[in-house]
Amino acid sequence: MTMSSTIVKSFDVDFIRQQFPILNRQVKGKQLVYFDNAATTQKPQSVIDALVNYYKGYNANIHRGIHSLAEEATAAFEKTRDLVQQFIGAPSREEIIFTRGTTEGINLVAYTWGRQNIKAGDEIVISTMEHHSNIVPWQVLCEEKNAVLKIIPINNQGELLLDEYEKLLTPKTKLVSVVQVSNALGTINPVKQIISAAHKSGAVVLIDGAQSTVHLDIDVQEMDCDFFVFSAHKLYGPTGVGVLYGKKELLEVMPVFQGGGEMIKEVTFEKTTYNDLPYKYEAGTPNIADVIAFGAALLFISQTGKQNIRKHEEDLLQYATDLLVEMPGLRIIGTAKEKIGIVSFVIDKIHPQDLGILLDNRGIAVRTGHHCTQPLMNRFGIPGTTRASFAVYNTREEIDELVAGLERAIKMLS
Ligand SMILES: Cc1ncc(COP(=O)(O)O)c(C=O)c1O
Repeated sequence: MTMSSTIVKSFDVDFIRQQFPILNRQVKGKQLVYFDNAATTQKPQSVIDALVNYYKGYNANIHRGIHSLAEEATAAFEKTRDLVQQFIGAPSREEIIFTRGTTEGINLVAYTWGRQNIKAGDEIVISTMEHHSNIVPWQVLCEEKNAVLKIIPINNQGELLLDEYEKLLTPKTKLVSVVQVSNALGTINPVKQIISAAHKSGAVVLIDGAQSTVHLDIDVQEMDCDFFVFSAHKLYGPTGVGVLYGKKELLEVMPVFQGGGEMIKEVTFEKTTYNDLPYKYEAGTPNIADVIAFGAALLFISQTGKQNIRKHEEDLLQYATDLLVEMPGLRIIGTAKEKIGIVSFVIDKIHPQDLGILLDNRGIAVRTGHHCTQPLMNRFGIPGTTRASFAVYNTREEIDELVAGLERAIKMLS
């Protein structure tokens, strides 16, 4: 089964919902309404089945075994690599490296490419709206190397100031590392423009695709990013798996990350030679079951159709925004022109955590707090927000439930 041959044109949210067993459960005696999708999405039955089938049917370690189980497991694991390659338009499967997630992908680049290429006085550019995962590894590197971290500012809508960005680029800029879609605001950043400007000044670019990959069409060749990272668990896949895409010419000359089995060609006590890509960066037994189940998640997305998913989520975003802006005392944080289905908001005199607890009492799961973007919260002068983030299985009726829950909470708390 290939991804393109399975795309279906029509979209039926009830049919989608039936594929997610967790959506049937009750929380505090109420039907679950799950709006914490930017933190992690729920998993369709096909992903759960893929996990169970592996453990029940062909659990074995991969790559080195010659018995049938090992061959079956290896084939299923490597098939996911091909699916990922297609999914993000990578030129070759050697450029797809399995990691534990976005965070590990960024750290891998910081510890390998970063340590090899960043020297005292060099500059790394990130933005105000980065997740802590795309701040801390670069801070650690800058401290170690005496390099400088520079920050792209944003406007009050939560959009990057591109003129200011271009002013930050100098011959000392070695890396630009930005998020494609903000997890706290929903802003879609113009990454093509950002990458092209960085390349003109000779910098390498990493794109954090943790939030974008599930919503937008990703083509790393068209984008021309040097590195692209994302996590399976935000794409209806399992936790503990992610992807680092890197251009082959960079990956080939970068030093190794972790040492151990799988990443070697030959080991003697005098010297070790390293394996070819992508295995050079996949030391030790990988997360076999979850990589296999990630393949099922990618098939679920391509069968549902990214266009369908995007259209449905845009409708939910518009519907929710129209209702929320009417609520007294409520202010949406993040009103960029280009957004995915995330609404972050604050309500006068109400702490997001209190709101979260009251909504949970009605079975509604939202995220409250700083969303691992404390510098962004500081920029807006707030400690945190309440965030509702939408996925393919959410409905307008669920948004009505959220609005009713908020109205009641406002009455109780203000
Ligand atoms: C934009 C962004 N970057 C990075 C991460 C970190 O992802 P993970 O925890 O899966 O490594 C997240 C997770 O919320 C995110 O939203």
